Amino acid sequence: MSYPIRKFDAVIVGAGGAGLRAALQLSEAGCKVAVLSKVFPTRSHTVAAQGGVGAALANMGEDSWHWHMYDTVKGSDWLGDQDAIEFMCREAPKSVIELEHFGMPFDRNDNGSVYQRPFGGHMQNFGAGPPSQRSCCAADRTGHAMLHTLYQRNVRSNTHFFVEWMALDLIRDESGQAIGVTAMEMETGEVVIFHSKAVLFATGGAGRVYASSTNAFINTGDGLGIVSRAGIPLEDMEFWQFHPTGVSGAGVLITEGVRGEGGYLLNKDGERFMERYAPNAKDLASRDVVARAMATEIKDGRGCGDESDHVLLKLDHLGEDLIESKLPGIREIAKKFANVDPVKDPIPVVPTCHYMMGGIPTNYRGEVVAPNGDDKEAIVPGLFAAGECACASVHGANRLGTNSLTDLLVFGKSSGNSTVEFLKQNVTHKDLPRDAGELTRERLERLNNQTNGESVAEVGAALRQTMQKNCGVFRFPDLLVNGVAEIQEVEQRVMRTEIGDKSKVFNTARIEALELDNLIEVAMASLVSAEARKESRGAHDRADYAERDDQNWLKHSLWFKEENRLDYKPVHMDPLTAETIEPKVRTY
Ligand code: FUM
Repeated sequence: MSYPIRKFDAVIVGAGGAGLRAALQLSEAGCKVAVLSKVFPTRSHTVAAQGGVGAALANMGEDSWHWHMYDTVKGSDWLGDQDAIEFMCREAPKSVIELEHFGMPFDRNDNGSVYQRPFGGHMQNFGAGPPSQRSCCAADRTGHAMLHTLYQRNVRSNTHFFVEWMALDLIRDESGQAIGVTAMEMETGEVVIFHSKAVLFATGGAGRVYASSTNAFINTGDGLGIVSRAGIPLEDMEFWQFHPTGVSGAGVLITEGVRGEGGYLLNKDGERFMERYAPNAKDLASRDVVARAMATEIKDGRGCGDESDHVLLKLDHLGEDLIESKLPGIREIAKKFANVDPVKDPIPVVPTCHYMMGGIPTNYRGEVVAPNGDDKEAIVPGLFAAGECACASVHGANRLGTNSLTDLLVFGKSSGNSTVEFLKQNVTHKDLPRDAGELTRERLERLNNQTNGESVAEVGAALRQTMQKNCGVFRFPDLLVNGVAEIQEVEQRVMRTEIGDKSKVFNTARIEALELDNLIEVAMASLVSAEARKESRGAHDRADYAERDDQNWLKHSLWFKEENRLDYKPVHMDPLTAETIEPKVRTY
């Protein structure tokens, strides 16, 4: 059976910040671009970004992109590629000013410049301090404002949006060039081939592999599942960020901007415990450091509440006026999800899965790269990726807060520019292979014909519990080994899921089953990569290998779905123009 075909110059999968920023470059260059999104663009998960976008504008004190670069390399625990990090930090101020000119409603200082707040791990003077005010924000709704700004700009430039469409599989020609995707219209259940000259993935994160997550339900790693089924590896998937302040029991994000504005964490004894773990930066240490400190307080019996299972985030001393003007969203969240008004009472918080540092391997131009013979970073023609689904790698083993929005703006634009350049060299559509759409057809037929299978919800819950239990803030050798075995069992179950309702119109059961196909690739890559990495670095903290081991492990992991195998490639230690930031012990 062949599917109907729609032709575009380029297809972008995902309409969050990265997808919208990339689409703008293409539309404004006159390319015919289709943007596919499971949700209306302004409901993409970028909407949940609260605290700000990092850029050394120096509006609120001295700052420089060199300091931003230093902090990002240190934050990454030296696993970030220094060429990509330099590119991001150097481009960040321009990208933010550009966004301001697009109409982004940033908070303002009295002199009209963009207001900037401090954030964890961002310092002046190459880490020596004091904290730098680098996070440009729109109260605590920065991502929301950013999505609306970018969406409106895309409407102005006539980007074609396909809303409530789920991309299913990548189509490559015999040479390996990406020439389209299959996608399902959720309203009708119809599958279409989007035939293009280039494909760009901007599908965001996959935090729904964990049971407790700040991520939206749509964050199921669709781009990662799709490329791994098409033979492309996933990079550094062992590195998952736990945000220190998810609302206890609900997981909803409470921005680090609370601590940026002067809030702090307390244990059950009322102690400001971060002073012990990070004497200089305290509550504004890097996220992995704060999350581990909180988990240690809870593990050692100094947690709060009847179950001693959380700590408290105190901000009442900031006063109602500041909370209302700079943090109105978190006041609302605290009231709704924790039943406390932070103007009077502290918020119960726990570390919660927040961000995937790994992803689809790219260079800093947003071109997807994969091993080919001796070349570990051969460009995959016609394939691009940006934002959380991509691994450029600017975040290495741990991302600094605010650098996700910086990443999606800078690399959204650079991947869009690279796609425009590619289209100038590749002006005609390559022929579709005879088996285009075959993998999608097989997957859908399997789901439609499955009998005596398991419920998607039950298998999904098993997947999330496997990750939560075995691949958390602290990692233990026996749990990692168990985790790999358990996820292999879950993988077998994913291949036998059954949906009771086989109808076509808005069949969300089918969509969830297809999402599970992507989540399993993400979970497998994460556990296999984590079990193999015998060191502690950034967010990967092993009980049996407590130290970072640069001699053996200063390298990126690459996980291949085929044969469930690993390969490794070197970290780029050479920046584009700056001096290399040499590895040293990381303290805050
Ligand atoms: O805490 C926050 O507002 C989250 C920011 C980020 O993940 O960059």
